[in-house]
Amino acid sequence: MEHIYLPVLGLMVLLAIAVLMLPVANRLNLPHTVALAVVGGLLGSLAMVVGDTHDMGIVGDFIEALRGFAITSDVIIFVFIPALVFESALQIDVRRLMEEMPSILFLAIIGLLVSTAAIGYAISWASGWDIVVCLLLGAIVSATDPVAVVAIFKELGAPKRLAMLIEGESLFNDATAIVLFTILVAMVAGGAEVDLAGGAMDFVRVFVGGVIVGYIIARLFCLVIARLRRMPLVEITLTINLAFLSFIIAEHYLEVSGVMSVMTAALVLGSYGRTAISPQTWHSLAETWEQIGFWFNSLIFVLVGMAMPAILLGIGWRELWLIVLLIVVAFAARAVIIYGLLPLMQLIGLAEKVSTAFKTVMVWGGLRGAVSLALALAVMENDAFDAETRTFIGVMVTSFVLFTLFVNATTIGLVMRVLGLDKLSPTDMAVRNRALALSLAKISERVRSAAEVEREGDSDYASEVVDGYVERLRRAQSNLEVMRDISDEDWTRIGLTTLSNQERLLYIDRFTDGYVSPELTRVLLASADDTLDGLKQIGVEGYRAATKRITGFPFTLRLALGLQRRFGWSRPLANRLADRFEILMVTRTVFKELLEERLPTVASLVGKDTAARLEALLDERLTAIEQALDVLRLQYPDYARTLSARHLGRVGVRLEDADHSRMLGEAIISKEVYADLDRELQARAFELERRPPLDLELEPEKLVAKVPFLADLSAERIAEIAGMLKPRLAIPGEKVVTKGEVGDVMYFISTGAVEVAIEPAPVRLGSGDFFGEISLIAHRPRSADVVALGYCQLLALHTRDFSRMLQANPELRDTINKVAEERLAALDKA
Ligand code: CMP
Repeated sequence: MEHIYLPVLGLMVLLAIAVLMLPVANRLNLPHTVALAVVGGLLGSLAMVVGDTHDMGIVGDFIEALRGFAITSDVIIFVFIPALVFESALQIDVRRLMEEMPSILFLAIIGLLVSTAAIGYAISWASGWDIVVCLLLGAIVSATDPVAVVAIFKELGAPKRLAMLIEGESLFNDATAIVLFTILVAMVAGGAEVDLAGGAMDFVRVFVGGVIVGYIIARLFCLVIARLRRMPLVEITLTINLAFLSFIIAEHYLEVSGVMSVMTAALVLGSYGRTAISPQTWHSLAETWEQIGFWFNSLIFVLVGMAMPAILLGIGWRELWLIVLLIVVAFAARAVIIYGLLPLMQLIGLAEKVSTAFKTVMVWGGLRGAVSLALALAVMENDAFDAETRTFIGVMVTSFVLFTLFVNATTIGLVMRVLGLDKLSPTDMAVRNRALALSLAKISERVRSAAEVEREGDSDYASEVVDGYVERLRRAQSNLEVMRDISDEDWTRIGLTTLSNQERLLYIDRFTDGYVSPELTRVLLASADDTLDGLKQIGVEGYRAATKRITGFPFTLRLALGLQRRFGWSRPLANRLADRFEILMVTRTVFKELLEERLPTVASLVGKDTAARLEALLDERLTAIEQALDVLRLQYPDYARTLSARHLGRVGVRLEDADHSRMLGEAIISKEVYADLDRELQARAFELERRPPLDLELEPEKLVAKVPFLADLSAERIAEIAGMLKPRLAIPGEKVVTKGEVGDVMYFISTGAVEVAIEPAPVRLGSGDFFGEISLIAHRPRSADVVALGYCQLLALHTRDFSRMLQANPELRDTINKVAEERLAALDKA
């Protein structure tokens, strides 16, 4: 390359102009993207009009550079789209996205197909162009653009759900449009037959393939990044590699959808990655990506704007009428899909209801942008199309994109205002007013005392400021009077939502401070999210239900329990129980903190009565957690102590760390000394990271020793029967024996207690007792339910070993028979 300075100059000046359009757009109250396209258009025209640039110095060089920047579809696809899609998807809340997924997929796939067909047939009918070319046009202009859409909705502060629907649709429909585009291009260029089935298969392969590729690459990436501690520069750089590589590998090498791949990668990073990356790093990462997004966004709209003048020169009257038709049909089709077809999805229960106001904004907010232009450019660069087709597609797409940019983007804010979507909901409004009144009350006091100090000389201006605050406070308080119509239930829900959000943050704090592993943090965060979902969907009862889930036994633990029983593998069970220990310990401290430190602040927001309810609900949860922890502790007291000691060790490490940083900050120690101290500390922190294993204590010999009348047997007898007895752990509340079932096992209780549900009153059995013998002796169905009261270590004896063991041990046989007879007698009496 001869003059490398030329493109660098061009790029830098262009970027400067582009980013400076942000303050200009703000001043003119225009969306930034619109201002960018206008400037781009002007620059493009300038480059076209100016002739010889030889004697124009730096200005001439800049114009030369602009001429060299003819943007191609490849540049948009491989440079801009990965960065922009990654950036928008990184900000998406995956759980919310999943909730809206049916509607989003419907709009992105069915909606896009319907729109393509409508546009294709209408334009072909009106213009006489070949139907396949018109369908191609339809596919190109049907993809709403994430870049334009996200940019606008971020600026407008749209309601979250609405933004999620439109952003989700625009991210997903790109993939649909690109696949459809590829199929249609092959048909036009190669004269291939319309192959619907093949096309559909292709679509599924490309779409799903992209998701899988993005997922795998991102998970691998998370694995790598989890090993890099405290290396923000490396971690953030790797996310940039992730964005581009996930796109290129999918799109170019594996021939699946790059858009789906990079989007999935960003979603995985946004959910899993959060616990692989430290929160501070995450913060810098988000900022870096915001910066990257801003650059690319600014550049793409200017560059696209620059390409427009040349294309638009091709417009004549005939084209103008077709453009008007295209606009009408495209929006009509969008309206039919959103008003007419989307409700069908709700009718069959597949999607959540969307309000009419939201639907209106969705129709009008379907902006088109970079993706449509990239696809149009791809047609214009493709020699397989004749010159006329290329101009036709170029003119139609460019005009349509410009229309959505200049008409829809500039008026969507107005539409939202007319529909009242820019306003807070009544409950948000109530929270706002109370928060404002609280903060004003505090601040007006402070300003008053600051004014006391100032009062020495001229006091007028001080009292003016103080009066201003007093007046605002008065107004805020009178606003509160108006807000009476918020019900107690609503206030409770607001309070619980605030507390659950704080709960979430406290878990993240614990993780940041190194007290909780990434895996358990994920579990804890998921449980807080469950609570929030429950609150949103059902209200206060939903919160209660979520509490039960914390103290209940998750599927993974039940699975581990099954593995222990069936195959005698105790490792998974020990690990899950150790997890449970840790989770209960963390949630207990978090709920204590919520009750003692957070509730008072929330209370001033929601009022006294509601605060009392909140306290009762938090108490209920804390009690349940403490009970669950107590029974676990009772069974494994040594392990509880080990974990507590480890936690204390971590607290120490954390305090030392803070102290070292303080000494460094105060220049008491040098950087070198700090680094040395830090190395040692990190080594200790690493030691504490490994969780000591939990011993389930399920060795038969040890358990036999705890059952007195078995333990009295001779050593060789014990060794013999220990082989027949299978140890198992029962968890609190577990039904070990079910009434009416056929029984083939009896149990000795080594530790713990069970309850036998018989009439008139249930009977408790403890260490050394046995149960389940009646079925084996009397050959009848189980006579009662037997439920574990806490954790119980049991020894199970199977029928086939039962008689063998009794024959060999007459005293044992007598004891068991005697007890069984008594129990049978009691049963008959009842
Ligand atoms: P089985 O009938 O196999 O299953 C239920 C068990 O409950 C039963 O064996 C006894 O072990 C136990 N059971 C029944 N009645 C009593 C009782 N009155 N006191 C203690 N345990 C009992």
